[in-house]
Amino acid sequence: MDKIAIEGPTRLRGTVEVSGAKNSALPIMAATLLTDEKCVIKRVPPLRDVNTMIKILRNLGVKVQVEPGRLVIEPKGYKNYIAPYKYVKEMRASFCVLGPILAKHRKAQVSYPGGCAIGNRPVDLHLKGIRALGADLKIEHGYVVGETRQLKGAHVYLGGAFGSSVLATDNVMMAATLAKGRTVIENAACEPEVVDLADFLNKMGAKIKGAGTHFIEIEGVKRLDGAEAEVIPDRIEAGTFMVAAAITGGDITVKGARFDHLGALVDKLQDSGVTITRHGKDIRVRVQRQLRPVDITTLPYPGFPTDLQAQMMALMTTINGISVITEKIYPDRYMHVSELARMGAQIKLEGDSAIVKGVKQLSGAPVMASDLRASAALVLAGMAARGRTDVSRVYHLDRGYDKIENKLSQLGANIHREREE
Ligand code: EPZ
Repeated sequence: MDKIAIEGPTRLRGTVEVSGAKNSALPIMAATLLTDEKCVIKRVPPLRDVNTMIKILRNLGVKVQVEPGRLVIEPKGYKNYIAPYKYVKEMRASFCVLGPILAKHRKAQVSYPGGCAIGNRPVDLHLKGIRALGADLKIEHGYVVGETRQLKGAHVYLGGAFGSSVLATDNVMMAATLAKGRTVIENAACEPEVVDLADFLNKMGAKIKGAGTHFIEIEGVKRLDGAEAEVIPDRIEAGTFMVAAAITGGDITVKGARFDHLGALVDKLQDSGVTITRHGKDIRVRVQRQLRPVDITTLPYPGFPTDLQAQMMALMTTINGISVITEKIYPDRYMHVSELARMGAQIKLEGDSAIVKGVKQLSGAPVMASDLRASAALVLAGMAARGRTDVSRVYHLDRGYDKIENKLSQLGANIHREREE
């Protein structure tokens, strides 16, 4: 296993290019299972999670050619309809192949995803939506076993106790493209990645309206053609770099991001006193004054994204004053708290909230990554802390960040990867 060693404190300076969005590439890759024709997906980030989805597609019999920054996917004649446990346990997002396989092949067997470090992650909304389209779904030996003679359009309400569900919306939307008749998904997720998927499906010949709102309408069609997609920029990677500039008191320009996808983060960083200016598709982030603590509550898009909660917490631990962070999407998503405490952070958990009392200076320490975004938070804290920080188990980081240590060292961070003895 690898670890990342960081010597702090550093002020980041320079420009960094954002990669394609992991959480857009994954469902778009799954959507290719809906057609027999060739698809080309550009700006696919070279990540562990993308490699896991490639393994799932190849295991189904789909031809996947990996070229620099793009995938050529030829699903013609894939026969297998099983997504095995060994892959799904690596990456929960694999579950979004259920809808496409069932819609195309009328039967599917997908491993029931387990939990993960950020908490219990049920799939009841996925099952509810796909059953509403007329599929018979059973849970047998850890698999969701599905079959249908023909999916039929339906009106599906997909809101759960924590609001809308991104991948449940994706799963049902993909299945509905080949269902007979009209489907309405009510309380659909509005994330930009859902819109990106809908755009790709419409390029394939689907008839989808309303993506990006809470009401998505899908008129079923007989078949879908191949298409080409260029994945949107990764707003969470972009946001992570913006917070990196803030926590190190730096001045960086994030290139190729979608400013309109980052409203909640820009709002909070500006409230805290960070200077953020736009130059076309570039976002310049500078710290020109003492920052103020801000309160954060994570909500479904366009609310503050849960995937930037840990990164913002790291920032708040270095700002004088009290900030309250409330996690409404994954109430247990606080694995980073105990690791940040090892670096001298003062954080108190109360239910789904964390009360953060800023300290003058974090101190470098050996810490352990637990999940993708917690790992990013520890790297950010390490760049602000005095002394050396070793973040172990960085395979978590590699799931969602394309060589983050290279990008950060280009910004002046004293950071490198080492083999863990
Ligand atoms: C997507 O996961 C993202 N992953 C997650 O990013 C992200 O944190 C999450 O959306 C929320 O924005 C991908 O897109 C691959 P949800 P998803 O269904 O779709 C509950 C990262 O770091 N829920 O929107 O699985 C669920 O427990 C990852 O890149 C149900 O109750 O999340 C959560 O509380 C981590 N029943 C809430 O809804 C269900 O059937 C939102 O989850 C499904 C979800």
